[in-house]
Amino acid sequence: MPVHIDIRDGVAVLTLNRPPVNSFDLTLRRDLRAALAMVMTKPEVEAVVLTGGTRHFSAGADIEEFASGTRGGATAAPTLPDVIIDLDQAAKPVVAAIAGTCLGGGLEVALGCHHRVVAANATLGLPEVKLGILPGAGGTQRLPRAIGVKAALDMILSGTPVNGAKAAKLGLATLSTGDLVEDAVAVARQAARDGGKPRLSLLRAELPADAGADWFQRQIDGLKRPLPAPLACIEAVRAAVELPFSQGLQREFNLFRELVVTPESKALQYAFFAERRAARIDGLSPDVQPRAIERVAVIGAGTMGAGIATVAVNAGLEVILLDRDEAGVQKGVAGITKGYDAAVAKGRMDGAERDRRLGRLHTATDLAACAAVNLVIEAAFEDMGVKQDIFRTLDKVCGPDTILASNTSTLDLDAIAAITSRPQSVVGLHFFSPAPVMRLLEVVRGAETAPEVLATAMALSRKLGKVGVVAGVCNGFIGNRMVEEYLRQAYFLVDEGVLPWQVDGALERWGMAMGPFAMMDLAGNDIGRAIRAGRKALGDERPYSTFPDKFCALGRFGQKTGKGYYQYDPASRARETDPEVDALAQAHAKEVAQEFGLSPRVIGDEEIVARCLLALANEGAALLGEGIAQRASDIDVVYLNGYGFPAHKGGPMFHADSLGLENVLRLMEGFLEGYQSQFWKPAPLLWEKASAGGRLTA
Ligand code: 3HC
Repeated sequence: MPVHIDIRDGVAVLTLNRPPVNSFDLTLRRDLRAALAMVMTKPEVEAVVLTGGTRHFSAGADIEEFASGTRGGATAAPTLPDVIIDLDQAAKPVVAAIAGTCLGGGLEVALGCHHRVVAANATLGLPEVKLGILPGAGGTQRLPRAIGVKAALDMILSGTPVNGAKAAKLGLATLSTGDLVEDAVAVARQAARDGGKPRLSLLRAELPADAGADWFQRQIDGLKRPLPAPLACIEAVRAAVELPFSQGLQREFNLFRELVVTPESKALQYAFFAERRAARIDGLSPDVQPRAIERVAVIGAGTMGAGIATVAVNAGLEVILLDRDEAGVQKGVAGITKGYDAAVAKGRMDGAERDRRLGRLHTATDLAACAAVNLVIEAAFEDMGVKQDIFRTLDKVCGPDTILASNTSTLDLDAIAAITSRPQSVVGLHFFSPAPVMRLLEVVRGAETAPEVLATAMALSRKLGKVGVVAGVCNGFIGNRMVEEYLRQAYFLVDEGVLPWQVDGALERWGMAMGPFAMMDLAGNDIGRAIRAGRKALGDERPYSTFPDKFCALGRFGQKTGKGYYQYDPASRARETDPEVDALAQAHAKEVAQEFGLSPRVIGDEEIVARCLLALANEGAALLGEGIAQRASDIDVVYLNGYGFPAHKGGPMFHADSLGLENVLRLMEGFLEGYQSQFWKPAPLLWEKASAGGRLTA
């Protein structure tokens, strides 16, 4: 039964039981409504406690229902607002006992109860804005009445949850100090005796007098991006202040219905499920169990190695950080310590926690120290010889169960594995920089990687708080192989007279966190040059602009040299356009025009965006066809979590699908008439899907 009923001395305890997360679908809504109605009729019941067990009070509305008509749909009666009105208007007090996650519609259900008792480690929030919608079951009306308009709008617009202790501080709930359900039962009994506190729907939502008449307008003006969902959140909270409760509720529900079908929301819903799908390894037998990983060695104490060590320490693992000499190791340790000290200074971590974490960090300069670890992550210099030497030694010194991972971003993992006697235990763990910040982890499956090793790597990625995506072996794996085509196109645009900042501007206005030139300034233009040279050495004869190499020859490597495609303020690292770069780009374009006989033409935002993004999607389709990625949605997860692709556009593959694959091919055909037309060879899978009227992400 989705709702379990237990009557204890006059208090009915209703426990939601819809694994895995108690999300509200039509069945759970119906069942809760029926259970509530039933206990209300029982004379021996004087009050009700509603709980969801220890892990999830509820993760909110069932997002799968948002796709039109699925399982009755989110707007099929009884809707979540209907059920919450029943709770709100119940004749006997209802107390929510909240442990674990209480998100979205889950929190709205709790807000519809007359009291809330919360475990300190519970997680309460309204993350709907991250799905391109707004809390549509009274959250925008009741939360401002519970904790004040400012704090409520803050939670609604950020979508960031608070823990139970913070929720109690905000006045959202009473903190449980003992057994959660027993505490809630006690509150319920007391409320049955004295009537309890007034229901939130009977209170007023008011802005403090000093907020100013234009407060809501200022919130709109302060939005980073005026997307439909945040705008609607502000509008709904404004309705909470300006309209009677029932009218505010209606306004909110109407906005919810409009938002749930917007392209932004559809993309964000897709991204939510894409991320979860990425955790699945196709064809893996359910009998394959990941190994336990408790002790890890990280080889290379440079920026990447130290970052990976930090991530592992943060996840509670014992870590040995290695470098060739003591000075190298200590430099890495100093960087890690500095990061923790900064967190303590900012109040994000206490000193005792910093010391505990540093206590898990050990150092060594001899690979023999890796003998007893479960996993080695090599993050040494990106050179095949260097890596093969390390793996050869590791193979000798490590125990037979030790997994050997390489953080290579481009090199052939199979060639690294082949140097060992245990290629089945070799896997790629491609972290993105800065490792403690970036969520993406490409888990590279070599030709010989054992299923158990792959499963261990994917389980580890979750433990590290990363989004793991399985990739096959090829130059650049998923992310960097595709980005090369995106960059190639960006440089061609410069060949044709578009300035770097114009390319970046068009893509950033479209939604990319950073344009390609700003991205290369961050990554290092010398790194880009080395990658291009590496590809050429492997026989890549496809056309490439000469602009980035000419530019690199001037030593303008990017942020690290203070100058790249932009100039950077040494203190703030703020970027500014540089007339020198414009002059270089113009001179380069002139040379190209002469060489190729190009006539000048204006290239607008639309063409810039289409060329760069379709270059990504086309390469994505190519590597999908080759089996490098398991599914198109995995490619999107890579781009959303590692390359600043805007979540509300779903990712390059979803974006191509949104345009319609026939239109994508038509656009590519148009490009075939232009400069470097040989670039535009649609991937076979794109043709196949387009001619069948299909989608890449289906
Ligand atoms: N609806 C449907 N399925 C959901 C769901 C939801 N709200 N929340 C989680 N799931 C599913 C996941 O897809 C996954 O399914 P799978 O096993 O088949 O892949 C399974 O539950 C477990 O989820 P996770 O792998 O994410 O488990 P975690 O333990 O890592 O995280 C969680 C749990 C923190 C609850 C996380 O799943 C989460 O953030 N869920 C979404 C919360 C949310 O956004 N709620 C708002 C929903 S919209 C709403 O309520 C509208 C209302 O205002 C009307």
